[in-house]
Amino acid sequence: MNLEKITAMQEGGQILGRILRDLREYVKPGLNELDIDHWVEQKILAAGAEVSYYEKPDPDFPGAICISVNDELIHGIPEDNVLQEGDKVSFDLTIKYKGYYVDSAFTMIVGEKPVGALKHLLQFTESAMWEGIATVRAGVHLGDVGYAIERVLEKGKLGIIRNYVGHGIGKKMHMDPEVPNYGRRGRGYILQEGDTICIEPMASLGKPDTVISDDGWTVLLKDGSLGAHFEHTVMVTKDGCEVLTSLDDSVL
Ligand code: MF3
Ligand code: CO
Ligand code: CO
Repeated sequence: MNLEKITAMQEGGQILGRILRDLREYVKPGLNELDIDHWVEQKILAAGAEVSYYEKPDPDFPGAICISVNDELIHGIPEDNVLQEGDKVSFDLTIKYKGYYVDSAFTMIVGEKPVGALKHLLQFTESAMWEGIATVRAGVHLGDVGYAIERVLEKGKLGIIRNYVGHGIGKKMHMDPEVPNYGRRGRGYILQEGDTICIEPMASLGKPDTVISDDGWTVLLKDGSLGAHFEHTVMVTKDGCEVLTSLDDSVL
């Protein structure tokens, strides 16, 4: 067991969890995405963490956080745009703390509670993430995790995005193994105690095919339908996992 890694990722995970909790409160109609990006950057630095997206050459992303609005699925660049009541927006943030990365994302509706098809999309995508997380423990195959996620998304009749997957994380933002949001039971990598992975289902109300926009970053759904994305970083234990980026009640 690597105690240095465990401590860094636990602490980093709680810092990230607090930033995203506060961000959800902060986001209101009338806010410019650029102001949100600046706010997030300040929160990261104030916590003694690093803005991982600026790292060169990779990923060298033009923002401290990915902000994906409406038809954008993931990797949206913070831009000079004012959020409107009812916008569907996803925030995806990776920070570096004491040499280790942690990564988490959520999708919300600006200024109101989701209703109708959007509520369905958000609820099923988030619960698919939690079903995947509930499957994780040492000895389980990633195919079992993917299968659990896929089952929830299929039950919700959502498109399952296959072009983008979860991943290992630690000393680097993206590491092996890949963690697909679909799978076959008993197949794929066998999780080991101490592994740290990102579980991040992405799903759509329409078809799952994606395209990259002209800015070279933003991933859109090809058919223009709406999508959602939820993500947590977890550490595998003997009998389950610790959700590093979910807030411990004791440290709120
Ligand atoms: N946080 C994203 C993930 O879940 C990665 C974003 S990389 C960026 O894997 F360059 F787009 F920021
Ligand atoms: Co992420
Ligand atoms: Co990720």
